[in-house]
Amino acid sequence: MGLLPYEVLSRYYQKLLYDGDYDCWTEYLLTLVEKYSPEKSGVDVGCGTGIFTRKLKKAGFNVSGVDISQSMLTVAETLTRKDKIKIDYIKGDMRSIALFNKVGFISVVNDGLNYVEGKFVKRTFKSFNKCLLKGGLLIFDLSTEYKLSAVLNGQMYGDDSEDLSYVWLSEYDKTVKKLDINISFFEKQGDVYKRYNEYQTQYAHSVEFIKNQLIDCGFNVVSITNQFGKDISEKEERVLFVAIKK
Ligand SMILES: C[S@@+](CC[C@H](N)C(=O)[O-])C[C@H]1O[C@@H](n2cnc3c(N)ncnc32)[C@H](O)[C@@H]1O
Repeated sequence: MGLLPYEVLSRYYQKLLYDGDYDCWTEYLLTLVEKYSPEKSGVDVGCGTGIFTRKLKKAGFNVSGVDISQSMLTVAETLTRKDKIKIDYIKGDMRSIALFNKVGFISVVNDGLNYVEGKFVKRTFKSFNKCLLKGGLLIFDLSTEYKLSAVLNGQMYGDDSEDLSYVWLSEYDKTVKKLDINISFFEKQGDVYKRYNEYQTQYAHSVEFIKNQLIDCGFNVVSITNQFGKDISEKEERVLFVAIKK
């Protein structure tokens, strides 16, 4: 059965991908939003299950979440209700988001821009630019081409537990610089396991390409670092961009 990206993964996303490292990293990202955003208002784009969105809200930001996956947003809404806080989550495509009121920051955390094909990057940054106040912050990360092509390419991993087993396969196509991810879930339903196959594609973008697109779309690039603000090494797996709308 073919599914939309994150249709099944949304149910296990927090369990499979959320750990102390993520918590520590997003604490660092929060300090950057606090430092650079000219206002408390913002949008967490590609918010997924809303882990960073809730962190922003709890830190006093007036933030909403946007994601293309209704399944991820449904989980985000449930977890936000559980936390007894209020956040608006909106289904939308980052390649063409539009806001009624401009905001102080846009964050796109944990690979969001890797889901945007190269030919749509400019359009995406233009839509971000239109949503931001003058001096507004755009902060996002990217998994690097090194990670997609040398670390994840050919990787197969999985887990086998009572309620859920899964196999995760990734294959990189260097001619089009994209990583195809195929996840098979075996979910226990009564006495049987039901299989679901989910496909995702991530695109590799070079730092130079992203930097030029940001400049072309009216941003000043403040910093391009590794995910914790340090210099980028040859085998860096994640790069962090901080840019300000001119
Ligand atoms: C790896 S998840 C990251 C989620 C969340 N930001 C986090 O830190 O856990 C990437 C998210 O980007 C969303 N996404 C992918 N393409 C998108 C698009 N064109 N517009 C909006 N969201 C998108 C996916 O649905 C997914 O929830």
